[in-house]
Amino acid sequence: MISATSLFSPVEADLALLTDNLKQLIGARHPILYAAAEHLFGAGGKRLRPAVVFLVSRATLGEEEITARHQRLAEITEMIHTASLVHDDVVDESALRRGVPTVHSSFTNRVAVLAGDFLFAQSSWYLANLDNLTVVKLLSQVIMDLAEGEILQGLNRFDSDLTLETYLEKTYYKTASLIANSSKAAGVLSGASDEIQERLYQYGRGLGLAFQIVDDILDFTASEEALGKPAGSDLKQGNLTAPVLYALEEQPALAALIEREFNQEGDWEKAFAAVHQSRGIERSRELAKHHAKAAADALDGLPASSSRQVLVRLTEYVLGRTC
Ligand code: IPE
Ligand code: IPE
Ligand code: MG
Ligand code: MG
Repeated sequence: MISATSLFSPVEADLALLTDNLKQLIGARHPILYAAAEHLFGAGGKRLRPAVVFLVSRATLGEEEITARHQRLAEITEMIHTASLVHDDVVDESALRRGVPTVHSSFTNRVAVLAGDFLFAQSSWYLANLDNLTVVKLLSQVIMDLAEGEILQGLNRFDSDLTLETYLEKTYYKTASLIANSSKAAGVLSGASDEIQERLYQYGRGLGLAFQIVDDILDFTASEEALGKPAGSDLKQGNLTAPVLYALEEQPALAALIEREFNQEGDWEKAFAAVHQSRGIERSRELAKHHAKAAADALDGLPASSSRQVLVRLTEYVLGRTC
């Protein structure tokens, strides 16, 4: 299996600088917000999104060195992602993230909402300072999409009539939009052609969809220990993801348990088992593979380089990841 650490080794120096910079960028003006943000950047995530930005930057720059603006774009991308996680954990009432207690459980919901806002606001400020209107538009669209994705998900809880199409739309908003638009933005900063920019967008879209579908599978198959965040919680919360939607096609009785919001003893356990007994997980894997392949295919038009190769291998990594 491919590990994120070995895959990211060509951009390891870029990522190390990113981690240092992120802590600096948060600034020390607001001690409690600083503590909240530091806590998460210190815990460290996989840094998948900035790694994509660095790799796309290198793949589109050819022989040229990465610029300060590409570097800053990667930082903004991780800042937006982290802000969305701080808010998501409040919405999901989730106690663990990156193996450490979440901001709202270490501090309070109030602090977490403010810390998330603070990170979004700061990312917007750094974004504006890139002085590139196209990039500003791409990344501010992402911030809207993230909110829209959470709202769409919130509106559809425990709705057993949810379609796969709406699930994918929500998944685009919540996860793929950030990867797609930041990948494209890296191309914009490199002065890539419109055609290459579109390919970079499609790459990020496919990678993001595959990444989230796998995340939704892992919620059924992995442990809290492996994930560094709670497992089995999507179904409990009424967030019906691909494995459940496929399972519903085979096991109509599942709908009744969902519709009554698991309010009877043993309901949730029955529903969880029904998903495992169905072909839901297997079919979700096929769905993830389909989007990962679309991502890899989108890179065909890019000049051959070692960075492009790593971007292709990333599409395999997301399918095989276990945490
Ligand atoms: C978590 O993203 C949110 C999802 C889109 C599933 P990651 O799994 O990339 O989180 P970190 O940054 O590594 O913690
Ligand atoms: C993904 O939401 C986080 C965002 C993109 C905001 P989830 O609720 O599916 O992800 P985890 O499981 O908390 O990481
Ligand atoms: Mg969550
Ligand atoms: Mg969520």
